[in-house]
Parts: sequence; C-alpha cells; structure tokens
Amino acid sequence: MKSFFHKISLTIVALLFLSSPAQGASYKNNIAVTAHPLASQAAIDIYKQGGNAIDAAVAAAFALNVVEPHNSGIGGGGFMMIYSAKLKQVIVLDYRETAPAASEKFEYTGNNSRIGASAAAVPGLARGMEHALTHYGQLKLAQTLQPAIKLARDGFPVSPLLADRLINRANCLGRFKTTKKLLFYKHHPLKTNTQFKQADLANSLESIATKGADSFYIGALAKKLVAEIKKQGGLIREADLAKYQVKTREPIQANYKGYQLYLMPLPSSGGILLKQMLTMTEQDPLKQWGHQSVKTAHLLTEVMKAAFKDRSEKLGDADFTPFDAKLLDENYAKNKRQQIRLDRASPLPQELLQPEGSQTTHASFADQAGNVVAMTNSLNLAFGSCVIVPGTGILLNNHMDDFATQAGKANAFGLVQSTANRIQAGKRPLSSMSPTFIFKDKQFRYALGSPGGPTIISNVFQIIVNLLQHNMSLRQAIAAPKLHHQYLPPQLYYQERYPRSTLDALNAKGHQTKYRSRWGNVQAVSLDLKTQSFQGVSDPRGEGTPQSNATTVPHKP
Ligand code: GLY
Repeated sequence: MKSFFHKISLTIVALLFLSSPAQGASYKNNIAVTAHPLASQAAIDIYKQGGNAIDAAVAAAFALNVVEPHNSGIGGGGFMMIYSAKLKQVIVLDYRETAPAASEKFEYTGNNSRIGASAAAVPGLARGMEHALTHYGQLKLAQTLQPAIKLARDGFPVSPLLADRLINRANCLGRFKTTKKLLFYKHHPLKTNTQFKQADLANSLESIATKGADSFYIGALAKKLVAEIKKQGGLIREADLAKYQVKTREPIQANYKGYQLYLMPLPSSGGILLKQMLTMTEQDPLKQWGHQSVKTAHLLTEVMKAAFKDRSEKLGDADFTPFDAKLLDENYAKNKRQQIRLDRASPLPQELLQPEGSQTTHASFADQAGNVVAMTNSLNLAFGSCVIVPGTGILLNNHMDDFATQAGKANAFGLVQSTANRIQAGKRPLSSMSPTFIFKDKQFRYALGSPGGPTIISNVFQIIVNLLQHNMSLRQAIAAPKLHHQYLPPQLYYQERYPRSTLDALNAKGHQTKYRSRWGNVQAVSLDLKTQSFQGVSDPRGEGTPQSNATTVPHKP
C-alpha cells in the first residue's frame, strides 16, 4: 500500500514538474559549437553556472584566444550576431578593429600591412565581450574569463591544426623574439601534443577580469601595449585605444524561399553580397538542375563574380563612405541576374594574384531560453601580425591589410578594393565575416558562419542554397564541397571532392578552375522542431565539436 501511494505521489510530482517548465525555459538543451573542443567545454561550464548563450559565447571567445592563438583573441576583433529572446530582436555587435590615427599618413609598402606592429589595427575584442555581457549576458566578466585563464595557466596539448599553422607561419613568427620564445622549442615550432602554457596571457586576462576591459584600453595593459608597439614601429597610441567604441548595428534582412535571413551589415561586405547572390538565384530551379550540375555550378559562379565586383568597386565602412542603398535593392540584383548568360563565362580582367588563407574562427550558441549567438572573431591571417607584445602574451592582429592600403594592389586574399575602403583614422576595414541567422515564421532555425576571408561569403551562400534549395540536412550542406569566385583574381576555386566532370565542363565554358586546399570551418546550430532541441554541426574540415547540456527542466516534447 505504501509503495502504491509512493508511486502515485511520484507520478504526480513528475507530471507537475514536466508540465511546468522552469521560468523562461523553452528548449530542451543549451548548445555550444566552436572550432575547438576546449572552447566548447568552456561555454558548457558557463551554462552550468547559469549563464545564457551570450555568456557562453564570451567565455568561448576568451578560451579560443588561448587554444587557437592563430585565429582570434583580444589583440583582434570580430562580430557577434545575437537573437535576444527577451527583446525578440536580432542585434549585431561590431567590435571590428579600427585604423589608428597615425595610419592615415603612414606609407604602406611591401609587407608592412601584413607583418610587424604597423599591420595592427586598434583591437576591439575585449570591449566587445564586455559590452555583450553588460547588455545581454547574465554573468560577470570575471566569471566568463575563468576557463580561459585556467587554460592559459595550466596549458593544453597543441592540436594537429595548430601545429600545422605554426609550421606554415614559422618564417613570420620566427622574426619576433617574444613570439619565437613562446611558440618555438629549440628553434622549431611547437609540435602536436606539446603542453602549451601562456603565463603572460593568463596575467593579461586576469587583469581584464579584475579591472574590466578598461585595463586593456586605458589601464596598465594599454600602457604596456603602446610602449612596445611604439618601439616596434607600430601606429597604435593610447588615444586610439581610449577612443575605441563597440557599435551596435542593424542586421540586413532578406527573404529566401520562405525563410527570413539576418545577415551582416557593413563594415562586413557579407550581408550585402549574400543578399544579392541569393536574390539572383531565388527564381532559378537549382534543385531541378541538380546540385553540382554544370548549370547550377555555372550560375553560382557568375552570381559570385557579379556580387564580388561590387565589393571590389564600391564597399567600405559606411560610417565613413556613403553607402549606395541600391546595392540592397532586389530589382538591382534581379537585373544583374538577367545579364548572366548560361552558355559561357563572363569575361574578367586577367590579373595574377595569389590569395592566402585567412585564419579566423566562427562559433554558434543557443540556450534553453531561446537566445542565440553567431560570432566570428579574427586576427586576420594566421597569428595576425606575428607580433606578441612582450610581457602580455597578446598577439596583435594584421587587419590593416583588410584596407585598400596601396592603390590598385590586392590584399592578402587577392581582393582588389576601391577608395571606399581606404585608410581613415577610426575607420573599420572592410570585412567578409558573415555570422548569419535563418528564421522561418519568426522561429529560429539556423545559426552559422565560417572563417576564410572572402571564401566565408561563398561558403555561407552555398550552405544556404544547399539547405533551402537542395533540401539538404545541415550536416550535408556544410560537408558538401564548394566553389569560390571573388571576381579577381579570375579564378574559380574548388574544394576537394568537387566532381571532375563538372569542372571540365566549367573550363569549357571559359571558367579557369583551380584547386585550393582546405578552406572553411563552419560551426552551426539548428533547431529540431519535433524535439525542440538544438543540434550542432562542426565542419568535418576542422577540429571543432558541438557540446550540449540541459540546466533547467525541459518542456514536454
Ligand atoms: N580578416 C578577414 C575578414 O574580416 O574578412
């Protein structure tokens, strides 16, 4: 009898519990999808402490600084797209670097926009993270910094990808004493599985934890940074750091195949180009033509060329260069589509440029209350400028190279740009980073983004087409090999496993196809409508892992 009543009372408690989810909880799980398992774990630790998706993203950004030192960090900047469940609104935080005042008159020649202290623009990441927490997070900055501080102090094993990047950039890194001391052992770059500790970086992060981002922008760290940057011929001064401001921006919105897209506004070219390319392909029956068929591949290529031409000729930070709203007009894109011929490639100037790969990092997050984050952070090329500021462990970006630094000369990505993207004090260099949200009927469905400089835009474009035209799963859409054309150089790049027969037919139409190894490392989240749970997908090209937990009582499925 006792056990009967016990069972009944347990059932009643269970029913009450399941039908009354904890306040604010709507979804089954929290999720973090980053390019490194330890950064995803840092985000999960923060969820466990009651943090939301914004807190988790901030913790992951600091952890990524430590475990992926080649990709992002407080010496760089980025963009964070946030869906706030409370405000029911999508917000973009822009903590992209800015041009130091002295750069306006500085003569960039040779490689000095890519290597050394003169390549560094004013970093925005620490201010950006603090701003995100203050406005949309729940935890204190110090709390979100703890996983990163511990990883920097205790160390972690160098991953195969990090070891590979160290070898690729060994020449650049080896030029700078402090950098070499940290990243080399016995004159060779650190090898896979070496336990890598960063005591100076731990102290810098500790200083931000204690004194806030002010430490970096007006405090002790600012002084250290500027003294060393001056010594090394760099341009950032205390006034540049003190003036740095995070900007809140409106996302660009687009409709595609019944879905609502939220895209990156300037100073990223991502949203403008994505909206144009998607509008240009919306009426074409790509599914019927076939994924990777010659017709589909040709149209996607021509569409990329047409959009990247506008990037090259017209785009720059809209706070400094007037933006022509026509570029977002649907009729403008439709008119461009009409000019595309399906029988042959449109002609291009024949310029020979050798693009390098960008090392940036993307991460996506969602929490049980329905907040979502897509965040892309960068130092630009792998290890940025290669300068680690002595005594700080902070690697400086080389984002000055994303400006049109020398008239008519392509940047490291082979992008030729116009005076709209010339250097001006306080201006942000034009970016391609594209954190993106996809909604349907006001319901969140996907968050995604990638590293890869201009290939980010082509990659995100083709993932959206794969999802919404070819009805692929998120995993298939990300894994599928992609094409990339950026107008100049006149080359159509393809990834491993792209069908040979299609490439041959594209060459016959006048495209110049060229293999380019490994680009893209997408980290994405989707919502499974049936189970109301978030699913994560990490690009098979990288080392990332989705991690998930549940901290509150879930709704009944
Ligand atoms: N540094 C790469 C980008 O912002 O596009």
